[in-house]
Amino acid sequence: TFIHSNSLDELSYLHKTAVCVDEKGVIVALETDCDQTKAEETLYPQLGWSRGDVTVRTAKHGQFFFPGFIDTHIHASQYPNAGIFGKSTLLDWLNTYTFPMESSLASLPKARKVYTRCIQRTLSHGTTTASYYATISVPSTNLLADLCLSFGQRAFIGRCCMDNMSPDFYRDVSATTALADTRATIAHIAAIDPTNALVTPILTPRFAPSCTSELMHGLGALQKETGLPVQTHISENKNEIALVKSMFPEHASYAHVYDDHGLLGPKTILAHAVHLSEEEVELIKKRESKISHCPASNSAITSGTAKVRKLLEKGIEIGLGTDVSGGYSPSILEAARQALLVSRHVAMEGDDNSKLSIEEVLYLSTRGGAQVVGLEKKIGGFEVGMEWDAQLIGLGQVESDEADLGPVDIFGWESWPETIAKWVFNGDDRNTLAVWVKGRLVHERKL
Ligand code: GUN
Ligand code: FE
Repeated sequence: TFIHSNSLDELSYLHKTAVCVDEKGVIVALETDCDQTKAEETLYPQLGWSRGDVTVRTAKHGQFFFPGFIDTHIHASQYPNAGIFGKSTLLDWLNTYTFPMESSLASLPKARKVYTRCIQRTLSHGTTTASYYATISVPSTNLLADLCLSFGQRAFIGRCCMDNMSPDFYRDVSATTALADTRATIAHIAAIDPTNALVTPILTPRFAPSCTSELMHGLGALQKETGLPVQTHISENKNEIALVKSMFPEHASYAHVYDDHGLLGPKTILAHAVHLSEEEVELIKKRESKISHCPASNSAITSGTAKVRKLLEKGIEIGLGTDVSGGYSPSILEAARQALLVSRHVAMEGDDNSKLSIEEVLYLSTRGGAQVVGLEKKIGGFEVGMEWDAQLIGLGQVESDEADLGPVDIFGWESWPETIAKWVFNGDDRNTLAVWVKGRLVHERKL
């Protein structure tokens, strides 16, 4: 069984299906109503495959393949702080917890330990693609790129730019050095993965308050020159928005600050977008910029409830982000669950239409995320020509005496949509039996 999104509100259940993946990790055949014998007799000859060369992986009864999750916003450098935020809100959280941790990763042995764990942990939760923020340190950011490549996680790697309003122990010396350092990471990634088959640099102005106008202009020009994607934060917290207004009084809004610096385009990922005005939403739609919805983070550090339904109705492309460690969990399944709950809080504030469905949050976790990172033709679903970024999910069957398969009990009478709902609300990484990126097995649970 292969399950993926057909559209925002519809999942497709492909039972008794064979998917053939070639040595480059590309799906070259997808045949429904097909068993092993039929695959061997009809598909293999069509593909010029001989049986002995093929590795077969079968989903057992009750198991299913699902597209890998896409985390459109995660700070690898904050991973050790997951869960540590107390009662803080954004601006004091940054100073108390975040900047000291990120700064400490200038130590390469420490960065290796943290990044290795972060990559292994997110892979084990089924995250096949992540858009990462690293730190201001070039060697440690480059190490994150090296590690993603060696563990096989698809990744966007952002060297964090911040030459303003940041502590002396953790800031760029100037716009000029920040831009030169950004270019150094771009050059490193060009050397290790010249075609960006797996790893791609992403321009990363941390957020408007931590960047001078000179730095943002420089990054806007660099985007134009290189065509690279951009990631930043927007309109997460009310004090932050007031700060932006006071620092950039000549710009019409927070979104205009980015737009006026050439940073709001179709390849821009804006995280949070909790308190956007109508005008800002219009501008973001016009520029075709994307939004990363980070519900666990928005609740944890008390930022607010993002109005996802409104953004979807505008036609803005949206994915989910864990925002570790504003968010406490490295799991996109948890982000999906929190997106469901937050949308119900928006409903309780008066807009009943805001409730998201299971199908919708799974779309945001896969196809939506793929659009946000610009890879919708490659990942997010199972179609011939797309790459095999997938996870095998297994849920505990009450009738079987298999090894511990986590917290979900399947009695056997559930429909498939009910099974999926039980997975989304109670599943975790114990249910993620195996994970592949670009055809490579990158995680397997040892039972
Ligand atoms: N705004 C600026 N930096 C950060 C960060 O690291 N996390 C979050 N959630 N918001 C930010
Ligand atoms: Fe963030």
